[in-house]
Amino acid sequence: MRAHLAAWREAGDSIAFVPTMGNLHAGHMSLVELASQHAEHVVVSIFVNPTQFGPGEDFARYPRTPESDVRRLKRAGVDALFIPSDAEMYPNGIDAATQVNVPAVSEILEGEHRPGHFAGVASVVCRLLNICQPDVAVFGQKDYQQLVVLRQMVRDLHMPVKVLAGPTKRAENGLALSSRNQYLNARQKDQAGAIYGALSAVGSAIEKGRSDWAELEAEGWRQLESAGLHPEYFAVRRAVNLSKVETVHQNLVVLAAVRLGDVRLIDNLLVARPA
Ligand code: PAF
Repeated sequence: MRAHLAAWREAGDSIAFVPTMGNLHAGHMSLVELASQHAEHVVVSIFVNPTQFGPGEDFARYPRTPESDVRRLKRAGVDALFIPSDAEMYPNGIDAATQVNVPAVSEILEGEHRPGHFAGVASVVCRLLNICQPDVAVFGQKDYQQLVVLRQMVRDLHMPVKVLAGPTKRAENGLALSSRNQYLNARQKDQAGAIYGALSAVGSAIEKGRSDWAELEAEGWRQLESAGLHPEYFAVRRAVNLSKVETVHQNLVVLAAVRLGDVRLIDNLLVARPA
């Protein structure tokens, strides 16, 4: 991979990189499109990273569709596809692997419910960035906390890469596109539209000037519950670092995680509070 990309770099061309876990959908393809607007060459990786799944999570059943992924990426004109093995990514085995841990922001929200998840994400993304050495790396805003964690990693480790976020793609009922939506039946997909409904209701209340965060969070929670979803959290936070909103911060994010049957879904909405 290094040798392949070196030729482009020597020619003075820039590289944009989109790391994925495969099972590509329109959300991923929009990240590829965004990447192509920022560099001469686009590189995509597909690696279902074992270290970011906890015990009892869906690593074994995570959808793996390499043939159709390759077809989609070829059609989109991607220049290089990197599909490493576990041994390439973790040469000393998973248990003995060097870890990258971004403190504080990794421990809240998703981190509370998925301990060790962000250490797995940061550890693999650090490796992928070191291998591909792109000028730009593109991530989906759908995994908002992941984006905050990775931005901090890149800053803290002085990694010479610009991190870009691509907006969330949604189904008609607002459900954020995700590979995990495949675990849902048609009725559950309808029900899951309530996540975006609750985020939007709270988002527009904030845009109209409300700032009673605890009550807004409780309202969002109730809205999810009344749609038959089981919320794990519903939170209004500062967009920059996911800390609690205490004073007059204007850029906020509303985030939710729910369980629906044995499926876990997350989503979020950026909100600008009136000045
Ligand atoms: O967002 C994802 O698909 C994954 O967390 C990532 C960034 C590819 C790391 O495995």
